[in-house]
Amino acid sequence: MTDHLIEPHGGELVDLMVSEERAEEIKEASRDWASWDLTPRQLCDLELLLTGGFSPLRGFMNRADFDSVCDHMRLADDTLWPIPITLDVTEELAEQVSKGDVVALRDEEGVMLAAIHVDDLWEHDREKDAELVYGTRNEDHPGVAHIYHRTNNISLGGRLEGVQLPSHYDFPSLRRTPAQLRRDFARLGWRNAVAFQTRNPMHRAHYELTLRAARDLEANLLIHPVVGMTQPGDLDHYTRVRCYQELLRHYPKHTAKLALLPLAMRMAGPREAVWHAIIRKNYGCTHFIVGRDHAGPGNDRDGNPFYGPYDAQELLREHQEELGIEMVPFKMMVYVEDRDSYEPIDEVEEDVRTLSISGTELR
Ligand code: ADX
Ligand code: MG
Repeated sequence: MTDHLIEPHGGELVDLMVSEERAEEIKEASRDWASWDLTPRQLCDLELLLTGGFSPLRGFMNRADFDSVCDHMRLADDTLWPIPITLDVTEELAEQVSKGDVVALRDEEGVMLAAIHVDDLWEHDREKDAELVYGTRNEDHPGVAHIYHRTNNISLGGRLEGVQLPSHYDFPSLRRTPAQLRRDFARLGWRNAVAFQTRNPMHRAHYELTLRAARDLEANLLIHPVVGMTQPGDLDHYTRVRCYQELLRHYPKHTAKLALLPLAMRMAGPREAVWHAIIRKNYGCTHFIVGRDHAGPGNDRDGNPFYGPYDAQELLREHQEELGIEMVPFKMMVYVEDRDSYEPIDEVEEDVRTLSISGTELR
């Protein structure tokens, strides 16, 4: 288990890409291996594993790490980690594989991206995952629906060797790995970078919130939207990226930067906020914004919210010190008509008229 790990949250980045020579060896040897075509979510997870976005993970989780993450929000070696990162495969593939085997992992075009050294084949515990990670078995929750309807029974655990990163043809200059982004920050002379997570088009509430965060901290701003997988029904990322690019011009010169994150979100609310913070730490950020209902999937069919609006802030507050990244909490930003300004609701006097716009209205 511990061989999956390096210094827990010590700031050291995992890099799982092998040398060209080793890559050739792997390609040669892979003719004798079983092969697995990664699902869209697994492709996203693989990319963040290979580039160190998921440091200190070095591979897909085995049973011991999965259990420990569900039960304690920690890996088996006690490192804080909130979300299972697992490689579920069909029974058909599982039957061909034993512990100690290597399996080739391929993209949808059949290109081998990585090899996994299988040290565990284990049966996914759906109830445990749903209840402990998501806090509910209600399948109205998109993350829970994924567990029950789009996850195979058997998972492969083991360390990875990266041969080639997944290829992207859209917005290549905005796609920065953790190592590249850290170098960007150093080159720009950014000592403090506050990250803003989003899966939605940004509007003025978000603009005001991010501006305030950067100004108050005397930090630079990283707009770091998720372009991997988000909640079903969200706006496509092409449209969103154009919106972010347009908005970027409105910040004071040289204070803000945009980079895209190929993450597959789970919409796990509080646990997801902790995960997002770990990821941004890996990308070189010193601060992380968490506002209202961070990574929440909204309400179930009866109109009950899955998480409280500030549950995510509460959980991250308990763990930020251990992680070494500081949370920048925000209460709900509302429009104050009389002053034509956006303000956190806890700073607005009670008798003042406020307005807010929902994501659906904005779309
Ligand atoms: S999320 O699923 O990625 O959290 P979203 O793009 O809606 O979705 O939000 C991005 C970040 O902005 C989150 O930290 C969220 O809490 C925060 N946020 C969004 N709208 C508001 C608002 N009106 N007031 C305060 N925080 C907000
Ligand atoms: Mg939201």
